[in-house]
Amino acid sequence: MKHFLKLLDCTKEEIIELLDLADRLKQYVKEGKEHHFLKGKTLGMIFEKSSTRTRVSFETGMYQLGGHALFISSRDSQIGRGEPTQDTARVLSRMLDGIMIRTFEQKEVEMLAEYGSIPVINGLTDFCHPCQVMADLQTIREHKGRLEGLKLCYIGDGNNMANSLIAGGLKVGMDVSIATPEGYRPAPEVLEFARGYGAKFLLTDTPMEAAKDADVVVTDAWTSMGQEEEKKQREAAFAGYQVNKELMAAAKPDAMVLHCLPAYREQEITDEVFEQHANEIFDEAENRLHAQKAVLVKLLG
Ligand code: CP
Ligand code: NVA
Repeated sequence: MKHFLKLLDCTKEEIIELLDLADRLKQYVKEGKEHHFLKGKTLGMIFEKSSTRTRVSFETGMYQLGGHALFISSRDSQIGRGEPTQDTARVLSRMLDGIMIRTFEQKEVEMLAEYGSIPVINGLTDFCHPCQVMADLQTIREHKGRLEGLKLCYIGDGNNMANSLIAGGLKVGMDVSIATPEGYRPAPEVLEFARGYGAKFLLTDTPMEAAKDADVVVTDAWTSMGQEEEKKQREAAFAGYQVNKELMAAAKPDAMVLHCLPAYREQEITDEVFEQHANEIFDEAENRLHAQKAVLVKLLG
């Protein structure tokens, strides 16, 4: 494993190995045990979109691992003025030990990996959000004790989160069902991958059908970063795709609820359901730190 660009690239064994390492690293933090596995290493973090969790978890993670993280905003660097990715990749490879990037096009991340000579980690693109789903899987395993055979359902926009949940969930042996309106489906290449899993995958436009007997219910914002101009029309398209009490009644009585955050209450999720499951949702947020440290140790260690 040289890069962490999308979960479609990872094997089940690689994902499980990262989750095991993430659990171990979380334990070290809880015990206050020093774990400087990346002493003297520097991670560059390129942000072309806003972030709270991703920035804080990568920066804190590198510090806890004995290394250093460098925040590179596209606005204040030559990246925002159009310096080609091929050149940025080669320059950063001469100075850093790894790059994390949050950007729009997946192609950009793949190109950084192709032209650079150091590991590249995807911190969210329009196509996927693999670091988030590693934290989601860690959280589900913590709460449920296993992944294999559980039913995960995702309600709402067929966006970067939906794409990564399908890839990650199916790879680790979960059943995955997705409810999105027509016109807001997950990416074609992800659906193509999912079709190979037969009855373990369901795509529907009926949220109740997707949520039936689910062990885990997941949703995400209806308007992702970069889509702000379409906000009104998206809100209209997703009415009826809310995670609320009625939808939760279709899931198992002990079903978990996850949300990558930021959440928009009374849109994709009611305040009531969010607060009932706040413990799981904030465990999920915390696990960004542990799951990404596992990725960092694996790639940079
Ligand atoms: N979930 C997530 O990636 O959050 P940020 O946008 O705050 O990084
Ligand atoms: N789908 C959201 C996730 C934010 C973490 C977005 O891309 O804005």
